[in-house]
Amino acid sequence: MICLGIESTAHTFGVGLVDDAGKILANIKKMYIPPTGWGIEPAKAKEHHLMIADELIQTALAQADITKPDLIAVSSGPGLPPCLLVGKQKAEELSKKWKLPIVEVNHCIAHLEIGKLISKFEDPVMLYVSGGNTQVIAFENGKYRVFGETEDIGIGNLFDTFGRKAGIDFPAGPKIGELAAKSKNYIQMPYSVKGMDVSFSGLLTKAESLLDKYRLEDICYSLTETCFAMLVEITERAMAHCQKKELILTGGVAASKRLQEMCRIMCEERSAKFSTIPMELAGDNAAMIAWVGLLDRKGKKHVDIYPAWRTDEVEISWIKSQ
Ligand code: ATP
Ligand code: FE2
Repeated sequence: MICLGIESTAHTFGVGLVDDAGKILANIKKMYIPPTGWGIEPAKAKEHHLMIADELIQTALAQADITKPDLIAVSSGPGLPPCLLVGKQKAEELSKKWKLPIVEVNHCIAHLEIGKLISKFEDPVMLYVSGGNTQVIAFENGKYRVFGETEDIGIGNLFDTFGRKAGIDFPAGPKIGELAAKSKNYIQMPYSVKGMDVSFSGLLTKAESLLDKYRLEDICYSLTETCFAMLVEITERAMAHCQKKELILTGGVAASKRLQEMCRIMCEERSAKFSTIPMELAGDNAAMIAWVGLLDRKGKKHVDIYPAWRTDEVEISWIKSQ
């Protein structure tokens, strides 16, 4: 069985085709990049997605060398409503044309499930770090639960907002990482871990206030060391609490070599396994949506959008309770 997945929660529109053995037959995407490189305007992203959707669907089918899948899956949330509506519209058009059911997929859970597929881990903790999301997730008592998360902005957002002030192009994460690697001069930063949650806005204000007073390399070093340490701390606590021995690092910020290194060291110290995900599957993509479609298979004719769909609200039909 082959599932066609559609991703359109934010600035990425993607189409993926995956078979039930977990083989990825196609996984293509296009990202809406605002003209100034800054701030995503949902209506503009929607226009972009509508313009490219049909072409991407055709290209993905051609790449997989099929004319029609057996199932359709769409990311129904969480995300920006105008963008989510494009996914819904395209999924329903295809469903009508091919007479196929559509599975509603939660975007965050898709990140986790594709991570499990690639790493072959069975019961991991996942640190999901992207522009908008920062969550520590694990499966417990029949649900994927969020054990810790950001109380304010996502970590990628922290980097990109700081980058804008510092004159670094969007997305700023990679450049901040490069600059940080050139320094060993740590400037004291607010370390904000509250229980299992973190918050980044104090750190952002502090880092911004240091601009022009310190070398940019030193600020980037201090900023990244602090926020990564905060994340590794709550992740380690979740692993200890859940007694889990596997960690998956995913999301766009998972590209950070330093964050990977810190996670790897923490896992080695706990005799736990650690896996990152290839970037084409760690960032927003549609293969992960197709894969959850195949796991779930609860298709319908008409789908809804859930802009604020929480990870722990999702019914997980495909895992036996542990
Ligand atoms: P979501 O919609 O799930 O929140 P997203 O739309 O933000 O995801 P992603 O591709 O998952 O998209 O993540 C993009 C973020 O990753 C940006 O904020 C970018 O600055 C950050 N990023 C990319 N590469 C690196 C890196 N090497 N180090 C740190 N951050 C990075
Ligand atoms: Fe994402």
